[in-house]
Amino acid sequence: MEKQKLTELIKQKKNEKNIKILAHTYQSPDIIDLADVTGDSYMLAKAAQKLDCETVLMCGVRFMAETVKILSPEKKVLLSAEGATCPMALQIDPKEVVDFKKKHPDYTVCAYINTTAELKAVSDVCVTSSSAVRIIERMDAENILFIPDKNLGRYVQMNVPGKNFAFFDGCCPVHNSITVDDVIAEKEKHPDALFAVHPECRPEVAELADFVGSTSAIIDYALGTDSDVIIGTERGVTDYLKIKHPSRNFYQLRGDLLVCRDMKMTTLEEVYSAIIGSGAIIEMDESLRLAAKRPLDNMLKYGG
Ligand code: 13P
Ligand code: SF4
Repeated sequence: MEKQKLTELIKQKKNEKNIKILAHTYQSPDIIDLADVTGDSYMLAKAAQKLDCETVLMCGVRFMAETVKILSPEKKVLLSAEGATCPMALQIDPKEVVDFKKKHPDYTVCAYINTTAELKAVSDVCVTSSSAVRIIERMDAENILFIPDKNLGRYVQMNVPGKNFAFFDGCCPVHNSITVDDVIAEKEKHPDALFAVHPECRPEVAELADFVGSTSAIIDYALGTDSDVIIGTERGVTDYLKIKHPSRNFYQLRGDLLVCRDMKMTTLEEVYSAIIGSGAIIEMDESLRLAAKRPLDNMLKYGG
């Protein structure tokens, strides 16, 4: 079906069925155009609780839909693309965390929200990239095991001196792929541009940046300056900025290579299937849901 027709049909059906669409900013512009709420992980987690509807469609990856289900069990939660998962969310086995806790009972386990429900269930508090520093600063805990993203963990460690950190060997394959050479090459092409990166990038890349922040913080930073900006995060952010300000120069680091394959699995066809009832439904055992909810509640409590 032609794109515009399909978009209209989705809008009509979602209104008839009162389905709200949540989309992470990394989604393609076609999907963002359909969304009731667009934002970063923290914003979506909070927004999900307040939506007045029976069904929510998450356009993103599985952990995001799981988070909605954990916080809003009364809602039917759909995931836009059945196989869309964050590879980092699967890098650590919950058993490793349980074993660590047995050996180091004085450590508090902080799980990045990009984790499975099973991993959240063995953690003490969840954080997002926009709330991690704030939450860990506020928590009355000296020793932190930060999982799974060691890059984000190191970024938090730098910004929260005075606490002890331990890490496992996880990372986002998309952000971790950016090298110092990529940054130098892009800066040589645009010597006057500022450079903004996501804290999921390697520390040596973040060190070269004028600004380090979450998806929404990068967007605010780029829109708040008159300078050109090199964007060091998933290409959806650059697409979003260009739509908002077509006359401005935003340069995507690594061009088309900095794309999260899982985030981009959602197509208009998948959204249509989900809306008409042929998509993936998130189901969760109640005991797992309650165990995974505790660290999310702590996140919302400390995150403010
Ligand atoms: P934020 O949306 O929290 O910035 O995280 C980026 C990300 O990688 C989402 O999967
Ligand atoms: Fe996971 Fe990285 Fe993709 Fe985000 S961009 S969903 S962290 S793989």
